[in-house]
Amino acid sequence: MDILDLNQAIEKGRVSRGPVLINNKPDLRSGKRDDYMTGEFYLRGQTFPFRIWDKGIYDIVIEYGPGIYIAETVGSEFNGPYLTVRGIDLYPGSDLTRNDFMGGIPRQQLMDSLEDIKRRLTATGVSDTCWELVNLALAQPALEGRFFIEGAAVRHHDNVIGGLAHHTTKMLRILSALLENNPELQESADLLTFSVFMHDIGKIFEYRDLDLSEFWFSNHRVRGIEFLAEIRDEIISRYDEVFYRQTQSVIAGHHGQYGDRPTTVAAAIVHYIDVLESQTTELVREQLNAPGGKIRHPDFGFLQEIPTIEE
Ligand SMILES: [Fe+2]
Ligand SMILES: [Fe+2]
Repeated sequence: MDILDLNQAIEKGRVSRGPVLINNKPDLRSGKRDDYMTGEFYLRGQTFPFRIWDKGIYDIVIEYGPGIYIAETVGSEFNGPYLTVRGIDLYPGSDLTRNDFMGGIPRQQLMDSLEDIKRRLTATGVSDTCWELVNLALAQPALEGRFFIEGAAVRHHDNVIGGLAHHTTKMLRILSALLENNPELQESADLLTFSVFMHDIGKIFEYRDLDLSEFWFSNHRVRGIEFLAEIRDEIISRYDEVFYRQTQSVIAGHHGQYGDRPTTVAAAIVHYIDVLESQTTELVREQLNAPGGKIRHPDFGFLQEIPTIEE
């Protein structure tokens, strides 16, 4: 049975049936009459909100949690499109696995674009010592090679296999433009480059296969700093304690006002790069998903689409 094409199924009034993946635990909310379930189906980097109004129908999802199901859906609309689930049951077969729903960025493509940006950054003054340190960090056994596998988010930008490496590469491209625009920063080209690699490294511990990990509550900034401590001596022997502490400050402060406030110029710069990269990616993705040509932005309200190339 083919995976349900959720982009089609979400069309208003359309009735569809097929395998779906629930990747995160759905929520129960209390409605006017009864409780209802709200959650998301996940398909290749996109999430599709669903609702289940009947306890008799959603009980099975409470019992079995995230996983593959067969769902019967109706495309619906209320403050944006969603799917009403009329029936849902466990997927009985074994042909489909979570991987079939994951999609993701091909490893070779990730490696090629990383090599490309490495060359460009080297041209703006990033040293071999920095690349050596980056390679050493990414090869640490604690990361289990997952820098190129984990997503960058569970619900938002780059929630696909390889999303973390992709997000990091896109930030490095922005950094390279900033180093060209502000030659004064070239003195800190190594620090900024290494910090961009490390800023979200803790996501490898916060997430597991695009879902929250067991210890998600100790967030990726905390876990990133913990990871950095493991290679403290390697960093200080190549640079100095200032470099190490500055990198820590970037991991701690890269969420700007939505976390510990930045305490260094490096942390503020990496925060701006992070926001620019993730918000642009999110806007484009939302626009590609928006059937009516309008998207709803949490701060700005409705935004009219701009012309884009269809994927
Ligand atoms: Fe982050
Ligand atoms: Fe980030």
